[in-house]
Amino acid sequence: MAETQQNAAKAYEFVDHTYDVVVVGAGGAGLRATLGLAEAGLRTACVTKVFPTRSHTVAAQGGISASLGNMGEDNWRWHMYDTVKGSDWLGDQDAIEYMVREAVPSIVELEHYGMPFSRTEDGKIYQRPFGGMTTRFGEGIAQRTCAAADRTGHAMLHTLYQQCLRAHAEFFIEYFAIDLIMENGECRGVVAWNLDDGTIHRFRAQKVILATGGYGRAYFSCTAAHTCTGDGGGMALRAGLYAQDLEFVQFHPTGIYGSGCLITEGVRGEGGYLTNSEGERFMERYAPSAKDLASRDVVSRAMTMEIRDGRGVGGENDHIHLHIEHLDPELINQRLPGIAESARIFAGVDVTREPIPVIPTCHYNMGGVPAVYTGDVVTFKDGDPNAPVPGLMAIGEAACVSVHGANRLGSNSLLDLVVFGRAAALHCQETVKPGATQAPLPADAGQNSLDRLDRTRHAKGDMRVAELRLEMQKTMQNHAAVFRTGESLAEGNRKMESLWTKRDDISVSDSSLIWNSDLVEALELDNLMFQSRVTIASAANREESRGAHAREDFPDRNDDQWMKHTMATCGQDGKVEFAYRPVNLEPLSDEVQSFPPKARVY
Ligand code: FUM
Repeated sequence: MAETQQNAAKAYEFVDHTYDVVVVGAGGAGLRATLGLAEAGLRTACVTKVFPTRSHTVAAQGGISASLGNMGEDNWRWHMYDTVKGSDWLGDQDAIEYMVREAVPSIVELEHYGMPFSRTEDGKIYQRPFGGMTTRFGEGIAQRTCAAADRTGHAMLHTLYQQCLRAHAEFFIEYFAIDLIMENGECRGVVAWNLDDGTIHRFRAQKVILATGGYGRAYFSCTAAHTCTGDGGGMALRAGLYAQDLEFVQFHPTGIYGSGCLITEGVRGEGGYLTNSEGERFMERYAPSAKDLASRDVVSRAMTMEIRDGRGVGGENDHIHLHIEHLDPELINQRLPGIAESARIFAGVDVTREPIPVIPTCHYNMGGVPAVYTGDVVTFKDGDPNAPVPGLMAIGEAACVSVHGANRLGSNSLLDLVVFGRAAALHCQETVKPGATQAPLPADAGQNSLDRLDRTRHAKGDMRVAELRLEMQKTMQNHAAVFRTGESLAEGNRKMESLWTKRDDISVSDSSLIWNSDLVEALELDNLMFQSRVTIASAANREESRGAHAREDFPDRNDDQWMKHTMATCGQDGKVEFAYRPVNLEPLSDEVQSFPPKARVY
């Protein structure tokens, strides 16, 4: 007993560090930012709960968009139009212009870093068609998605990590970030737990960059890794900051039925198509022009309607078939080897002979920590909806910049990671003075995190963490999925309220601080709970249909009332409060026109 107390007391001593910048997360965005910061001579720590090359970016398959025009005509303005239209006019057009213009130099840079892209016959970067990517403002189909076979995220992550090592970036690997250190509305650092030796660390920095990814694991069936628990979003909400547009959750049309494992949209880009139980290529009815390459929200809704109308396949008529049997096996071998393997392992299917059973599966969070295109996190101050939160930045899926608005186009995510990772590093070069003296942290900095950690570590309630997580995931799956109604969302809200009270009733059986996965999962669950709570409340609050948010009781987009970003806070009592931020319809430069909202035609 004495030894335990002594160990506990010792364990809770802080190990203090000071850096110019701390990046939390080592996926594509975190690594790209870390690389830029290290190259610029800023003292940077990258804190990550998993080994960098195990970050979820590794799972990205189909590619990264950029209007290189290697395989047909292209123009960044068309990419911008597609992204604005894909966002169902909720995307901020300044940020979108920034992203699509910076796409080209960012890809060239990746190529120079050594990323092993697939190639055309004449040695250029190979580009495939992807949903919603068009030429001439919707007239033709663009080949815009640069690919490394169907393992593009894998190739990108390894390339960036190797470049970070070359630049001598400092990593704190398998450190779990627990909370932000805030002082008078300013972010001063972050508290993290070293999972390997149980020590607790306080990182003081001029800037903290959240690059922690999405919170896909709030859902029962998702394409996201088990580590996608929205740790940055959870930390921000606990610090009293806003989450933006969490009601917009993307369902990828082709998760493998049963396992949720991703089958890339690149499959349809290479000529794959969907059929229902009648063998009908039903997308021709729903999207006569784009067909199987309509944007994901459209395809996921069409598939769900086919299943609902009794035209699903399989014994329970509850999924859809994705075909590539007609494609040349050599093409599958070269361009889609990863999905052939996944289909064999997770569905027992030989893709050269049989269709893959697929179902819309939770894939991406369009919402996140509100930020502008420089990476600065924003809040409201004196009537300004874009007031920066000093010391805090957010990038990648953790952030809502908002370039994806209400629905993200496939292959714009890897792009978002590198463009805004790079932008954040550039912004820090302008705003952070290398080695500048930092004020001492307040005496009690991090105490709240320790109290929470200790409470969770010794929690002896009636409910196992896995039980509560499962209830939350099923609630989200059943009440905040592809189609939503006010009634079902209200019921989901009630269930989430009741689950919220059970946070105080969890039980953690292992109280050690060394590789305590029970405790990690309890802390991750708290991050998921905050964001699930806000997601379902925001979905109930938004009485229109836009992008991935399809309300059957409000089927139309309502620009008069709802062309605005939802800003939500979530108190410790689980109470969600809303405010709104205007959508920026003004591009960054005068080299492109603004794209005013138009009716949806696919
Ligand atoms: O389908 C895919 O390969 C996924 C790409 C993405 O989400 O951007």
